[in-house]
Amino acid sequence: MFGIGEAEINAVADTIRRGILTRFQGGTEGYLARSERALAEKTGVKHALMVNSGTSALMCAMVALGIGKGDEVLISAYTWISTPLAPMLLQAIPKLVEVDESLTMDPDDLERKITPRTRAIVVIHMANRPCDMARIMAVAERHGIPVVEDACQAVGGVYRGRRLGSIGRIGCFSFNNYKNISCGEGGAILTDDDELFDRARLWHDAGTFVQDYDAPVKIPFFAGQDYRASEIEGALIWEQLKRLDPGLAMLRERVKLATDVIQQEGKYQIAPHRDPESAASLAIQFETPEEFARVAAKKNWKNIHDTAGRHVYTNWTPLVEKRTYRDDINPFLTEAGRNASFDADAAPRTLDILKRTMYVDVPWDAPLAEIERMMRDL
Ligand SMILES: Cc1ncc(COP(=O)(O)O)c(C=O)c1O
Repeated sequence: MFGIGEAEINAVADTIRRGILTRFQGGTEGYLARSERALAEKTGVKHALMVNSGTSALMCAMVALGIGKGDEVLISAYTWISTPLAPMLLQAIPKLVEVDESLTMDPDDLERKITPRTRAIVVIHMANRPCDMARIMAVAERHGIPVVEDACQAVGGVYRGRRLGSIGRIGCFSFNNYKNISCGEGGAILTDDDELFDRARLWHDAGTFVQDYDAPVKIPFFAGQDYRASEIEGALIWEQLKRLDPGLAMLRERVKLATDVIQQEGKYQIAPHRDPESAASLAIQFETPEEFARVAAKKNWKNIHDTAGRHVYTNWTPLVEKRTYRDDINPFLTEAGRNASFDADAAPRTLDILKRTMYVDVPWDAPLAEIERMMRDL
């Protein structure tokens, strides 16, 4: 997060004083509506919808694309557990694609994993690290499969000048407490497509998004959920958005300096980044897990594999154990889902890379001299 303070306190106080806590009271000039316009403008998409979490945003994306029973959804093997849970709960089968050394989806493995059942590809921009979108979009377009960008960990990031979340058919953001901007818990979906937007809006608001102030929905109502965000969350994001680009600029400057210093020192290999000019994340990588372990023992370091918890697919217990709340909605108990695996041998290259890679913490607001000293001492 790039800070939180008086501006957010005042915006929340304003919301409470006026007694306008829901989107429906706020209307087109409410904080949610204004934040959505600001999100759409910043990312360069036609529509943004705020919801109550990144997980909800992913569910909206799946429903908007019509994902359901028997479909396969390809996702990279290094992500938070919510990414595979969204298709799984809709009775689709999440299938793993390896990451490459950049810690993001390997476009070659993506192409190998496509089958006639593949209905969506979910790429994940992990830890502010963009995927190789040029190659991924080329593969997806060749096969006519829509791409969802899980940009939950990369709000505001860019790939070759385009904002993450605006390149595929749908983008998903999270505003939980660990993200670039936060309202405690929250999320958003982004899309240029009117119909996908309507489907997401219906699903997020009990299937009946019929507010007077809003543009009419042009598709028939269908049963949905309640993933609505509140005006308090809207107020926080309205203020947090003002901190996003300045915060990212400071982080990028420090990541660049840290990268230069590590390269000058020549002791460690830097993990490849798919858009080095805009890098807002730094990781170092070793040839083998054993080599990492040898250095780590002296430095008291831990690799991603041992620190990332349920971001590592072998720790996705409900998927590894193939369990839903009742068996007849479990996609893994169907003929089509029986071969899906989340065992260690399902994406071995991903596990190997996570065992030999470590993030380098680069504080976004530390003095530059401090960053330089930290990197020389690494
Ligand atoms: C990559 C990724 N996807 C999805 C999510 C889900 O977001 P939320 O926690 O807001 O539901 C997260 C959040 O941790 C995430 O990191």
